[in-house]
Amino acid sequence: MALIMLVAALLAIFLPLLLTKKHRSCSTYSLPPGDLGIPVVGQTLSLLHCLHSNTDDQWFRDRIKKYGPVSKMSVLGSPTVLLAGPAANHFIFTNEGLALTQTRALRSLLGRCILTLNGDELKQVRSALQGYLRPEMVRSYVGKMDEEVRRQIKLNWFGRDRVTVLSLARRLTLGIICSVVFGQEAAAIVEAHALDFQLLGDAILSFPVNIPYTRFGKGMRSSAKIRKAITRIAEKREQLLFHEGHAVSSTDFITYMLILRSQGSHSLTLEDIVDNLMGIIIGAHGTTSALITFMIRHLANEPDVLAKITEEQDEIASNKGTEGVLTWEDVSRMKYTWKVAMETLRTVPPVFGSFRTATKDINYQGYHIPKGWKVFAAQSITHLDSRFFNEPTKFDPSRFEKRSSIPPYTFLPFGGGPRMCPGTEFSRVETMVAMHYLVTQFRWKLCYKDETYKKDPKPTPVFGLPVELELRRPASTADAWNALYVHSD
Ligand code: HEM
Repeated sequence: MALIMLVAALLAIFLPLLLTKKHRSCSTYSLPPGDLGIPVVGQTLSLLHCLHSNTDDQWFRDRIKKYGPVSKMSVLGSPTVLLAGPAANHFIFTNEGLALTQTRALRSLLGRCILTLNGDELKQVRSALQGYLRPEMVRSYVGKMDEEVRRQIKLNWFGRDRVTVLSLARRLTLGIICSVVFGQEAAAIVEAHALDFQLLGDAILSFPVNIPYTRFGKGMRSSAKIRKAITRIAEKREQLLFHEGHAVSSTDFITYMLILRSQGSHSLTLEDIVDNLMGIIIGAHGTTSALITFMIRHLANEPDVLAKITEEQDEIASNKGTEGVLTWEDVSRMKYTWKVAMETLRTVPPVFGSFRTATKDINYQGYHIPKGWKVFAAQSITHLDSRFFNEPTKFDPSRFEKRSSIPPYTFLPFGGGPRMCPGTEFSRVETMVAMHYLVTQFRWKLCYKDETYKKDPKPTPVFGLPVELELRRPASTADAWNALYVHSD
């Protein structure tokens, strides 16, 4: 069933292009080696099967061995060039003739947001968003993140002897991003729309025909419900700011965007601001929740890494002020924990790859890529290449001790170039805050030691990573633990 959904999803990406665009005849070009396979089907089914069984990395490696680092294939009817290696990554993320390719479903679900705009409007939105998510701003969000993590740990983790990590991590990261972007309405939005955000996220790679009870139909319904709720909040913010002269919270995204607009920095309508807010929430929570889920999984299997992380976090806990709330300075001290996160991002990147479309004829390393063709790069190709990462399948956070030893454009969990993830710092800080409380308060054991995962397209443990949970209360964290209950009541 899931495989069929994935086929439908990829059809949704490529079939419209196949139907609407005439591809130039390739015979006069020096095209990359490889074959396009059976018409329309091409390599689609075998690639989808590999993604689903998490053997895609071997699939890419077999192709590279056979054809070299530049090869052509066909994915759901669209000729696609697979590129491998650091130079290829640099090319795909920085070449102006390659446009980020989104699904038709995403465009319908999210409307006019950063992921779907072009030209001047895109520049305005990116610049506003980069401002909102820049390190100095993220610094001011730490208190809110801390409060939300404590609230959720008390609500969903404490007192349970078994939890399913993926669903709780999704809830956690949704709560964190909402607490920052909405301020006081966050809890109401999360309570009323957590499932809607999930259904909306699930529908982004679905076949875009709006039929009730299909993935896309459910996603569209959820998208409309979320948009309505956020629009109500946005209208109130506009009223407060421009008619009553005050803002609700210093971190709220809608007010931030309204102020920027009044200063002439962009010309987005209130509807566009709402769409962008939905885009940020969707971009933020599925990715970071995958990172937290797989960190928890790795820590369960790596006692030495867990011991080192615990030492770092216990020390931070014992040095915390009387309030017991984490500060930016505390987060800056979590150096080893961030290395563990990076090693998790290297081995299990939340975004498995990137599709671009050639907007003009392009030459790359002597090969011709005709206008309209897709270009694809998969993160795992360099992340798991032994030329850049010694014993690449080994989980070893110490390889990030000297960042300069990692060659440029080999480690790209957040993409690169002008469309690089603007939420990198935000995700780092929220992950550190979440791991601080989880590591200092709990110990866990995997219910299924060898639980596999699929790429759907985000890495998803097949059972959602159930773990047996135990409370851990060393003397050093007792104060913080007590504070947790006092503050979150
Ligand atoms: C571990 C967490 C995260 C990972 C691994 C991740 C990864 C990525 C990647 C690879 C891209 C670029 C895709 C491409 O160029 O093809 C991207 C884009 C984006 N990310 Fe993230 N992301 C994460 C967290 C976040 C967070 C927390 C936010 C917001 C607070 C966010 C917001 C966005 C947005 C808005 C874009 C689109 C940028 C554009 O199209 O110009 N992400 N992310």
